[in-house]
Amino acid sequence: TNKYSITLLPGDGIGPEIMAVTVDVLKVIAQQCDLEFSFQEALIGGAAIDATDTPLPTETIEKCRQSDAVLLAAIGGYKWDNLPREKRPETGLLGIRAALGLFANLRPATILPQLIDASSLKKEVVEGVDIMVVRELTGGIYFGQPKGIFTSETGEKRGINTMAYTVSEIDRIAKVAFETAQKRKGKLCSVDKANVLDVSQLWRDRLNAMASQYPDVELTHMYVDNAAMQLVRNPKQFDTIVTGNLFGDILSDAAAMLTGSIGMLPSASLGSDRPGLFEPVHGSAPDIAGQDKANPLAQVLSAAMMLRYGLNEPLAADKIEQAVLKVLDLGYRTGDIMSEGCQAVGCQGMGEALLKVL
Ligand code: NAD
Ligand code: IPM
Ligand code: MN
Repeated sequence: TNKYSITLLPGDGIGPEIMAVTVDVLKVIAQQCDLEFSFQEALIGGAAIDATDTPLPTETIEKCRQSDAVLLAAIGGYKWDNLPREKRPETGLLGIRAALGLFANLRPATILPQLIDASSLKKEVVEGVDIMVVRELTGGIYFGQPKGIFTSETGEKRGINTMAYTVSEIDRIAKVAFETAQKRKGKLCSVDKANVLDVSQLWRDRLNAMASQYPDVELTHMYVDNAAMQLVRNPKQFDTIVTGNLFGDILSDAAAMLTGSIGMLPSASLGSDRPGLFEPVHGSAPDIAGQDKANPLAQVLSAAMMLRYGLNEPLAADKIEQAVLKVLDLGYRTGDIMSEGCQAVGCQGMGEALLKVL
């Protein structure tokens, strides 16, 4: 029996609802695959602010560091939107990514045949889409210095963020991206804004320099504005995309919609060692929180990514992914992926359906 300790960070909004479904699924998987999980919960985001006045208590960082993997749901909500930056839920999320050194965020956007009708794009456009977005997660404009709101000599306020990447930051994410592309169709598209930004020129130069080490990968470059357009025009041209923190945040939400709903998209945030952190791409969806409307599948699929990329338990990951396909085959749909003739369920109902097929 392989034993793993897993820190759960349910967070805010729909977070606790989708986490509850996912933990139930993991408990069944443990029995079926002869694994043992010990779960411990910790506070992050708004829930942590309410209890401890900080979005990332030291205790949470410690618990995460001592575990084999971290499963995060989502943070944020209207209640905390007007707090100073250091007390915002989002600061807690950025803090845990930085504390654990999670520089690589893998965001797969795969069209499932069962959900073709749920996409807002035409069937011919999205059929067969299978994209992996490799997003740099601990650098770029999210973390660059200087940052802040300053008052100049004339008394006018000025807001500043800095988009910066060092060569070593670029090289380590590029390595993850080239290796990811090698295991996929061997096509890597690097997305930047090198026509305007110096930081992007350095990014592009490094990608080009590293390409010779990966002769089996075909590297191309695209400007981010064009990439946003191409993702909706002809998403099938993409295999693996590598990009910086902000561009990756935006492009992965766009890619999510190809798959039918952001409620379907999982992600893995990885560093050079364990633990990795596994989180859906979507947020805390405060507009539907507490109403049993959330789609838990992005969270459940994030648990599958945890098993695959974080704990090296591919068979258990396969089982979860198969169960998700099966419930969709059976026609169970939350509101965000609903289509004609399907069976409407809530978050809990989707969880029950998963347990039934497992
Ligand atoms: P969001 O992703 O929370 O919601 C966008 C839209 O998608 C909403 O209409 C929501 O109802 C819907 N949606 C999202 N997830 C869904 C699901 N699982 N099932 C069904 N519908 C779903 O983005 P937002 O509204 O821009 O942000 C809300 C809060 O979440 C903000 O505080 C933001 O900072 C935070 N946020 C957190 C994370 C994270 O924790 N990783 C990610 C994104 C946003
Ligand atoms: C995401 C979110 C976060 C990000 C926010 C909430 C800090 O949008 O995980 O995509 O921008 O990385
Ligand atoms: Mn985002």
